[in-house]
Amino acid sequence: MNAASAASAAPQPVLAQGRVTLRPLADAGPAAWRRIHAHFRDPEIAFLNGTPPSRMPMWLLRRVLRSDARRPDRRTYGIYDEHGDYVGTIELYDLRGHEATLGIIIGERSHWGRGYGPEAIEALLDHAFADLGLERVRLHTFADNPRAQAAFKKVGFEEHRRVPARQGRVDVQMALERAAWAARARAPFARDPRGGTP
Ligand SMILES: CC(C)(COP(=O)(O)OP(=O)(O)OC[C@H]1O[C@@H](n2cnc3c(N)ncnc32)[C@H](O)[C@@H]1OP(=O)(O)O)[C@@H](O)C(=O)NCCC(=O)NCCS
Repeated sequence: MNAASAASAAPQPVLAQGRVTLRPLADAGPAAWRRIHAHFRDPEIAFLNGTPPSRMPMWLLRRVLRSDARRPDRRTYGIYDEHGDYVGTIELYDLRGHEATLGIIIGERSHWGRGYGPEAIEALLDHAFADLGLERVRLHTFADNPRAQAAFKKVGFEEHRRVPARQGRVDVQMALERAAWAARARAPFARDPRGGTP
């Protein structure tokens, strides 16, 4: 079974790393949908993500995102913090063969720069490489988003190339191979350089 068919066949598990829990988007409740709606309408987040701010009413956004999340080539999760609050959305999309693309939005500004992004990414990468059998996860971000680049590098992504994008922006393409992920996972304290020595 390849990764895409494994993804569509298996129920989506709940994933966890550090303070964050990832729950399938299908399980999001009314409070979570209010936050998702706010995140997708936010012009700054939309700019960072390279999409126009959503103008959909909540009922329509919910219908569209829930429908997208049911696609066999996607795994979409809500990111919840240690208090159980919905703080963002993360997904693997274009899941084909043994590769997929990762996207993430921490939608709560109060949670930026506090390591929630890397924890959510690590939880999803563990699932991608250990359970879904992926060999490579790629992503793209913008050169004018240094926080995102730093967060992605922290979890092991390497930059591969930069290409011109719309509106004079530059697209930074990054990827992480399964072997590199496994090597990091085996190295003690590899995920926390401040973790000290045994
Ligand atoms: C991008 C995102 C996922 C990163 O997650 P996060 O939890 O905020 O990331 P971190 O807390 O690990 O912070 C990232 C790193 O960027 C660094 N950083 C922040 N601003 C920076 C800047 N202007 N220049 C260089 N580094 C910067 C921080 O110092 C931090 O590194 P450190 O922990 O070694 O000090 C999250 O901020 C987010 O979703 N933002 C809004 C939407 C977005 O940009 N999505 C990505 C679209 S591709």
